Amino acid sequence: MKIFKEIESLRTYLKQIRQPAGLIGFVPTMGALHAGHLALIAASHQECNYTVCSIYVNPTQFNNPADLAKYPNTLDQDIAMLEQAGCDVLFCPTHTEMYPHPDHIRFDFGLLDKTLEGEFRPGHFSGVALVVSKLLNIVRPDKAYFGQKDFQQYLIVSKLVADLNFNVQLRCMPIVREPDGLAMSSRNTRLTSAQRKRALVFYQSLQQARARLHAGVAFEVVKAEVKSICENQPEIKLEYLALADTANLSLLKNVTTQSILLIAGYVGEVRLIDNLILTE
Ligand code: PAJ
Repeated sequence: MKIFKEIESLRTYLKQIRQPAGLIGFVPTMGALHAGHLALIAASHQECNYTVCSIYVNPTQFNNPADLAKYPNTLDQDIAMLEQAGCDVLFCPTHTEMYPHPDHIRFDFGLLDKTLEGEFRPGHFSGVALVVSKLLNIVRPDKAYFGQKDFQQYLIVSKLVADLNFNVQLRCMPIVREPDGLAMSSRNTRLTSAQRKRALVFYQSLQQARARLHAGVAFEVVKAEVKSICENQPEIKLEYLALADTANLSLLKNVTTQSILLIAGYVGEVRLIDNLILTE
């Protein structure tokens, strides 16, 4: 596996290997890799000739400085996992490489970056759109792989790619979960063992909400039930439970043919998100 820290040397290398019949797959990450990331690498490895992964903890998408400071860094372990998974190229730039000048570009996606995560993490999606734009321009992949775990991020990136005519095909891969159902996340490593058990409340809430909605209960009632379950758990703070349209995240009162349940909240100081696409 080749490892690059500089844009120019990565570009020179990719130019050499780019062939008319060779597809480049790209998996952008912030490191602290787990099986969820590796599923994206595996999909790229299967569908493309070369797989490029980036590890970069992007400061412009962190609205909370403490979250940025505590973001786990496990680069040596990540490199070993990527080698094992068949990744061909890792791009792990420094901050000065990615942001040599103060960044002033701001993105506005209308409702899509104001609702749900956007409401609780102001500026977050503008930072995501900025770094993803930069990474897509640097790597110039044929396909880029994202996880359903960050469903709103996937919709934002889809809009970015469509509106700015990026020449890339996006793939959204299913959520990889721990055996007990907790969605894998780099932030899970920050949970104590007691918090790790409590964190399951979010996935359980999604499952319960899905069952109640399918039983015909109105979403407002379901939401109140989930809220009271979360309120009774120590260290749990629910930020939102939403029923939304999978195409644009507009909020729904009832399940439709394209609905998704999304949840976010804190376990202690660790913020977690999860979602379930509702298929009828
Ligand atoms: P990060 O949180 O490292 O996630 C990288 C990719 O892995 C994202 O597309 C995310 O949705 C996916 N992913 C995370 N957990 C997953 C799981 N349990 N199952 C399946 N996929 C999962 O998302 C980011 O980084 C950043 O915002 C980034 C896009 C790299 C821009 O900085």
